[in-house]
Amino acid sequence: MIPSRQEAQELLYQYTETEALRKHAHQVEVVMEGFAKLFNEDPELWGTLGLLHDLDYEKYPDQHCIKVEEILKDKGYDEAFIRSIQSHGYGICSDVEPKSLMEKTLYTIDELTGIINAACLVRPDKSIKDFKLKSLKKKYKDKKFAAGCDRSVIEKGIDMLPLDQDQVFTETIQALKDQAERAGLAGEEEAHV
Ligand SMILES: [Fe+2]
Ligand SMILES: [Fe+2]
Repeated sequence: MIPSRQEAQELLYQYTETEALRKHAHQVEVVMEGFAKLFNEDPELWGTLGLLHDLDYEKYPDQHCIKVEEILKDKGYDEAFIRSIQSHGYGICSDVEPKSLMEKTLYTIDELTGIINAACLVRPDKSIKDFKLKSLKKKYKDKKFAAGCDRSVIEKGIDMLPLDQDQVFTETIQALKDQAERAGLAGEEEAHV
């Protein structure tokens, strides 16, 4: 069994109170949905994985990617789904290697959405509306900007995908634009999720 989108959101909010972490989960959710559509895969499954990937992070930061197994197993969710969550921390907090296209995509876009989020927040409109590939490439190259977002993980991820860096960046930006409100990037006046 795999959590429905509704169940995933409830679970996320139960374990995650920090607004910024909820926002990150929704950003990864909408980007995963976008890539699922691009690859003709299941957007609900990919989005749900995105929503839940950091489920154990707020409450168990020292057991990130580990505690999640217990939480989701107790609820009766599939081991394959749990494995997919754990694989996003490959080489950082887990030794589960991303194997499926879904896992490789999550691994690639997790840190990337962090850079885009930070880049939008320093814009006057705090929005992704007019954000361009060129701006992302500039921020990406500047290692001091959003320094916590590990570029080497993103690069390793892109190497696993059948896309080049520009394609991955473009698709990620577009998915966030398409669902800007859910991603919390519609600008200051817009309502939050
Ligand atoms: Fe994580
Ligand atoms: Fe994350």
